[in-house]
Amino acid sequence: MKLVLLGPPGAGKGTLAAFLNKKLDIPHVSTGDMLREEMKNNTLLGQEVKHYVESGGLVPDQVVIKLIENKFSHDKAIDKGYMLDGFPRTKVQAKDLDILLNGLNKPVDYAVYLDASLPVIVERLTGRRICRHCSAIFHVKNNPPKKEGICNRCGGEIYQRPDDNEETIKTRMSVYLKNTKPVIDYYEAQGKLKKVDADRNSQEVQESLMKIVHSIGEHERGCC
Ligand code: AP5
Repeated sequence: MKLVLLGPPGAGKGTLAAFLNKKLDIPHVSTGDMLREEMKNNTLLGQEVKHYVESGGLVPDQVVIKLIENKFSHDKAIDKGYMLDGFPRTKVQAKDLDILLNGLNKPVDYAVYLDASLPVIVERLTGRRICRHCSAIFHVKNNPPKKEGICNRCGGEIYQRPDDNEETIKTRMSVYLKNTKPVIDYYEAQGKLKKVDADRNSQEVQESLMKIVHSIGEHERGCC
């Protein structure tokens, strides 16, 4: 199964990808996580992108395209399929991704668009907490860790992302509307867009995703 998860910041892309990864063992490829890992390790790339990530702007296309090219060319796990989260974010990235994936004979099955409203986004992002070690995602109200400040999965320290404040969320939303909305139209024009109402609770969103996953299975088996 080969999916792209699209949607505004905080729509639930990472949460849904983690769910599907656990259920079906499909690799979760998140450019946001990859960039934060570089920043955590203080690599040259991490230093170069820190300003863009923390201010809510976009990292230049050529930088993230290179990251994805490296990942897809060297990671054998991708043979099982993939869930791309946070990439592509511009039409330039979407076109380059198509060239890369067609060359690898792994074209996108569907782009799943998680449509969430602004009040829901702000509530989710301001309450979000992340594990510094394994990137597990929590929320102070919707999905709190069992022990405050400690990750359920690995025991790592939980923190709040520096870009999850109201001011930076506004910047991320306007960047999303200007640059990423056209990517939704790009997949719609290819007949690959599946829209999901992401204002609903996690279980309902997961059920919608599983229907899409099953439809891919049926299509691959040549049924219906
Ligand atoms: P990135 O990490 O990709 O951030 P984002 O797209 O803004 O998305 P988020 O991670 O904020 O949200 P999400 O949709 O994954 O929501 P989540 O599941 O965590 O990118 C960060 C930065 O990196 C960018 O700003 C940019 O600078 C740079 N970057 C990355 N990729 C790039 C690219 N391709 N090009 C250029 N620059 C790039 O959920 C949010 C919260 O809600 C959680 O607390 C969760 O528990 C809760 N929640 C989720 N779903 C539900 C639900 N259904 N009901 C209730 N609560 C829920």
